[in-house]
Amino acid sequence: MLREILFPWALMTVSALSLPVTIIKFLVAGDLHAFTSWSTFRDAWFAVFWINVGPLAKQTAAPNVIPLLQGRLKDGKVQEKVVSQPLHGTVLEIGRGVGMWTQFYKKTIDEAEKDGTAGPDTIYASEPNRFLASTLRKHVKTASLEEVYHVLPIGVEGLGNATASGAKIEPESLDCIVTVQGLCCIPEPEKNLPLLYQYLKRGGHWYVFEHVRNDESPLISGIQSFTEIFWKPMVCCHLCRDTAKALRSLGKWEEIDLAPPQGESPYEMIPHIVGTLVK
Ligand SMILES: C[S@@+](CC[C@H](N)C(=O)[O-])C[C@H]1O[C@@H](n2cnc3c(N)ncnc32)[C@H](O)[C@@H]1O
Ligand SMILES: *[C@@H]1O[C@H](CO)[C@@H](O)[C@H](O)[C@H]1NC(C)=O
Repeated sequence: MLREILFPWALMTVSALSLPVTIIKFLVAGDLHAFTSWSTFRDAWFAVFWINVGPLAKQTAAPNVIPLLQGRLKDGKVQEKVVSQPLHGTVLEIGRGVGMWTQFYKKTIDEAEKDGTAGPDTIYASEPNRFLASTLRKHVKTASLEEVYHVLPIGVEGLGNATASGAKIEPESLDCIVTVQGLCCIPEPEKNLPLLYQYLKRGGHWYVFEHVRNDESPLISGIQSFTEIFWKPMVCCHLCRDTAKALRSLGKWEEIDLAPPQGESPYEMIPHIVGTLVK
């Protein structure tokens, strides 16, 4: 249990260490733009943090995220065979960071083409932090995904604005939404989650892998609330969101399969939910 309780503090330590690194990095590069406002600097700081921590986050998420997007997950458990519709059609990913899943998208598209099944054909990737963009571009290029992957340099709240996003997302236009540890970061979920619900087509799939509030242990839940006071400014995200409840109550769903992933302890400070909602 101690390990679980200390884990967020280890991440906050990495974030604290990233602060002087950020200052030195941007000073040395002569990129004074990073210092023009607190929120700009905050983005630069997060980018330095995430470029280091992201690969670790990917490693721990992949055993759930990959089967999730392949339609091989049910009730939090990875299945050997495909049990629900894999990622397909027009996809929107929220909070794509540096594009962790670009290689996987490329592989999925190639395999679907080979098998003659419906793979993803357009991927919109929303991310407001511009300091993640150059690493993202590298990942898109390495994966040869330029034709399919559309970088939207804006957060969820601006997706309906063509001028700001470059490609306006229309209501009922998406086959799939992907949120992988992204909903912990978006502002005003009570306003922005309904927007996402609206963008999804009837029958569309929302693939979710998010960290949420601990509902298993009152002790951990209390420590989580305390830790969040430091966590929010250090890591820029929320530790105690009840994302499953927020998603369930967005409107009518044809199917909801959301559960904790297998193998997480009840004392997890960063517990997850994983699964799919079908509109
Ligand atoms: C914890 S990171 C996860 C990144 C990525 N999904 C991954 O798995 O590596 C969350 C991301 O959400 C982004 N974010 C913050 N505010 C957002 C917003 N309003 N709309 C979309 N994404 C946002 C952050 O900048 C950050 O890159
Ligand atoms: C859309 O985005 C542009 C550019 O960022 C901005 O100037 C404009 O005010 C936005 N429009 C709305 C309706 O928010």
